[in-house]
Amino acid sequence: MKFFVDTAEIKDIRDLYATGLLDGVTTNPSLIAKSGRDFKEVIKEICETVPGPVSAEVASTEYETIMKEADVLRKLADNVVVKLPLTVDGLKACKALTGDGTKTNVTLCFSANQALLAAKVGATYISPFIGRLDDINIDGMQLIRDIRQIYDNYAFSTEILAASIRTANHVTEAALAGADVATIPPAVIYKLADHPLTKSGLEQFVKDWKGTGQSIL
Ligand code: E4P
Repeated sequence: MKFFVDTAEIKDIRDLYATGLLDGVTTNPSLIAKSGRDFKEVIKEICETVPGPVSAEVASTEYETIMKEADVLRKLADNVVVKLPLTVDGLKACKALTGDGTKTNVTLCFSANQALLAAKVGATYISPFIGRLDDINIDGMQLIRDIRQIYDNYAFSTEILAASIRTANHVTEAALAGADVATIPPAVIYKLADHPLTKSGLEQFVKDWKGTGQSIL
């Protein structure tokens, strides 16, 4: 499973990339607004930091302007993935962009039918939002399972990018459901390494090692 980080905070991205755990980055207009930075500058900086796919989202909702914005975004760096809304205009743009080799991420997916449409127009990634479905008492993880089955039934190559991940358990469940990628907030990525038995076991090892009076170096 590939790990993307879901943030526009460059320091968090740098620190995570240094761990070797990061394969890519996703951003959205809300994350850009939260960063308080210039959109194009921050995307360029992220693309220089992480060589993997970096999703940058269009702001417009109409086909013609989506295409103009996409053209600006894809020229920012070779690893930009153009993020498009799951609407008829967004899907039409996805078809056109895919046709000329641009990588795309169709976002705000909340149903299996929406995911089917994204695959049909050749999206590189489909982003089902698990947490936002859970928020309204619909099982977000079932959506990942359904999309996995549909894509496998027809050998669609669109990658399932589990999004709106809120907990470490979401990551486990998305991996079990066969998501190709998870885009995860920085704090949740670090939580994946936590286990109370690892913590207590290590404390004991450190204490016992000190007791030996030895040094490896
Ligand atoms: C995905 O690409 C989105 O940026 C993100 O996962 C949305 O997550 P949220 O529902 O926590 O805002």
